[in-house]
Amino acid sequence: MAGIELIRKIKITDVEGAPFARTKVVALFVAALMSTSTLTAPLAGAQVSTPRPGQQVALITGSTSGLGHELALRLGAMGMHVIVHGRNRERGMEVVEEIESQGLGSARFYRADLASFEQVRAFGDAILRDYERLDVLINNAGIARTPGGGRTLSEDGHELVFQVNHLSHFLLTRMLLPRLVESAPSRLVNVSSGAQQPIDFDDVMLENGFSGGRAYAQSKLAQILFTFDLAKELEGSGVIVNTLHPATYMDTPMVTAGGGTPRATVDEGADAVMQLVTSPDIGSGGYFLGLRRARANNQAYDEEARGKLWALSEELTGAP
Ligand SMILES: NC(=O)c1ccc[n+]([C@@H]2O[C@H](COP(=O)([O-])OP(=O)(O)OC[C@H]3O[C@@H](n4cnc5c(N)ncnc54)[C@H](OP(=O)(O)O)[C@@H]3O)[C@@H](O)[C@H]2O)c1
Repeated sequence: MAGIELIRKIKITDVEGAPFARTKVVALFVAALMSTSTLTAPLAGAQVSTPRPGQQVALITGSTSGLGHELALRLGAMGMHVIVHGRNRERGMEVVEEIESQGLGSARFYRADLASFEQVRAFGDAILRDYERLDVLINNAGIARTPGGGRTLSEDGHELVFQVNHLSHFLLTRMLLPRLVESAPSRLVNVSSGAQQPIDFDDVMLENGFSGGRAYAQSKLAQILFTFDLAKELEGSGVIVNTLHPATYMDTPMVTAGGGTPRATVDEGADAVMQLVTSPDIGSGGYFLGLRRARANNQAYDEEARGKLWALSEELTGAP
């Protein structure tokens, strides 16, 4: 039992990416060797969670619950190596174990809070360090409300919903883009929503007239604007980039924890995302409502607005 617990700790700690985490890994490793030599084999086993030669790699942000969890299981069942991400280590490790127990794919958990650019940068650096390829990136993590319900600032001083849903994914994507391009043909999906509200460039951080619904809807539209420009930039690169509203009121903690009544299954949303990951003739630069191509809010087709958002996102995140 102690051996299993130790492996569990090492798998969790090993993946956090920061030098501090590496120190902890070394400490655990030394402690393991000192406590009993029977731990040597399991420790070697802990190294299994790296991709096999030729194995495709998928990263799904926010895959500790809800839609992301289901996507992680599906991509694992396709034989991929899945990078599971979230803030909750226990749930993250459960997802890793679920994937590995399917016996087809492999997985590894990375913890990073998207409310912190420092953690996003450490996460991005860790992925670039640990993976030579990235075939699928699904920017799925999201929040629909702040902890207290009111306007909340991230540790970087930005409106929290905008940072978690849009800015941090912008930063992570820009960091990981070279891997996606090197691994082409590859796919990128930004999980947005049908809830969309134009960004007011005079008050992006919603200092006036904040509401949770407005914060969520502007952040989700920002993801669509970002997707459209990214798809243009990547034309001819072999990286297919799309965005979607997966399904309405899926049965996930985002809906149920807020007292909402689910109207759709997680499977419906996952089917829509998987179409964008696997369909051979889906094209790039699209917005989808479930399985169907659709039109997003008008602002997504306004080049000037897209340019403003891109410049602002670069300025606020320092993204490459
Ligand atoms: N549910 C719906 O009906 C619906 C409809 C349209 C669009 N969507 C979109 O679908 C996506 C998934 O939603 P869901 O319903 O599956 O939500 P969910 O069950 O609440 O899952 C959200 C995921 O995001 C992660 N996350 C949240 N805040 C984070 C942070 N600060 N840093 C890192 N990870 C964070 C969570 O991980 P931890 O808990 O481990 O932090 C969790 O894995 C979201 O982008 C949402 O906007 C959902």
